[in-house]
Amino acid sequence: MTLKRVNIGLLGLGTVGGGTLNVLVRNAEEISRRTGNELRVTCAAAKSYDPQQLDGIADVSVYDDAQQVVSDPDVDIVVELIGGYSPAREFVLEAIRHGKHVVTANKALIATHGEEIFAAARDKGVTVAFEAAVAGGIPIIKTLREGLAANRIEWIAGIINGTGNFILSEMRDKGRDFSDVLQEAQQLGYAEVDPTFDVEGIDAAHKLAIMASLAFGMPLKFDETFTEGITRIEPRDVTYAGELGYRIKHLGITKRTAAGVELRVHPTLIPEGRLLANVNGVMNAVLVKSDMVGPTLYYGAGAGSLPTASAVVADIIDVARTMDCPESRVPCQGFQDGAIEDIPVVPMDEIETSYYLRLSVRDVPGVMAEISTLLANAGISIEAMHQYESHSENGRVPLVMLTHHMREKVMNETIRQLELLDVVEGEVVRIRMEHLS
Ligand code: HSE
Repeated sequence: MTLKRVNIGLLGLGTVGGGTLNVLVRNAEEISRRTGNELRVTCAAAKSYDPQQLDGIADVSVYDDAQQVVSDPDVDIVVELIGGYSPAREFVLEAIRHGKHVVTANKALIATHGEEIFAAARDKGVTVAFEAAVAGGIPIIKTLREGLAANRIEWIAGIINGTGNFILSEMRDKGRDFSDVLQEAQQLGYAEVDPTFDVEGIDAAHKLAIMASLAFGMPLKFDETFTEGITRIEPRDVTYAGELGYRIKHLGITKRTAAGVELRVHPTLIPEGRLLANVNGVMNAVLVKSDMVGPTLYYGAGAGSLPTASAVVADIIDVARTMDCPESRVPCQGFQDGAIEDIPVVPMDEIETSYYLRLSVRDVPGVMAEISTLLANAGISIEAMHQYESHSENGRVPLVMLTHHMREKVMNETIRQLELLDVVEGEVVRIRMEHLS
């Protein structure tokens, strides 16, 4: 078999960059059998790297300066794996200006500058691929753009941040402390450079905005994505939720409703029997509800060197296969450019869901009646209510409630009123619930 050579330039030789080189070298034969191409990393830019960890590095020209890679006339595909907004954006645009195809794992970049980058690529007749930007090794981008292309997608709910899922799993299973688990995730190379991106839901919001754009054919709306982190989840909420038959997961949820598209990342109670509730550790999973096929679930490693590199290399293979036939390329956002619709994002006040509430209440007669009356007056129907008498402290006991479906703005007002009651101390803890049925 005569192989067509495709030259690749890597920006970054860290966790994912190094993994990409290793995958391309280790699986070179299998990849050539699939593609008819010889995919060769000819150059890379990296400030520092460990040659011991990199297969075939002796055949790669390594520069300090990314400019040398993006402007190298022999490079066909530039693979951006440095992460962050800048200078990644400038390097990607520069590579496109030089007529290179681009593969990136950078969710922050695509979620915030995707439109500009896609337009530049369109003008230049090159392609931009970003499978590794969402859920690491899970081929969810290909699934949304191609595998489910026959469907109208209704909603997506995903565990799309491995670090956050690792923290919640360890808290639940081993009673470990939040910061201690976060430190371990950083050592394992899962966490973002700035780990607040993981625990505050920003990383998940980047990924969710990308999935919504591909699922519904709409612009990238990261700026309008609601995010609530997991830093305020207490071990006792994990325990109480468990006693009620639920698990707390940090979910990214996007739904198409009559009012527009919901885009939200927040801790969520889900019934413990759901497959998503049983996705633990650093693993990711994305549940997609489409009109024809129904629900489909995608599970796998959402972070880590080789799993993420697997997605990067899949993109390199796709780009190499269609390099000479632009008409065969799938549009970046999965829909024809002129068919992207500016669907409005539903304001958070208007979403409808059910809720877990935890209040600290005075341990005196009549408290339940007072709270039940307030909820009844607001038209809120309660699915379960539990007072933890045995957890009494200084005359206060935790009261946990699950509500039925209702509008968020009604819940906000109800929480405000509950916090004004003399029998309620401090802030009411609210965690949204989804049944995913
Ligand atoms: N920090 C991310 C995570 C890495 O923990 O999922 C993969 O995007």
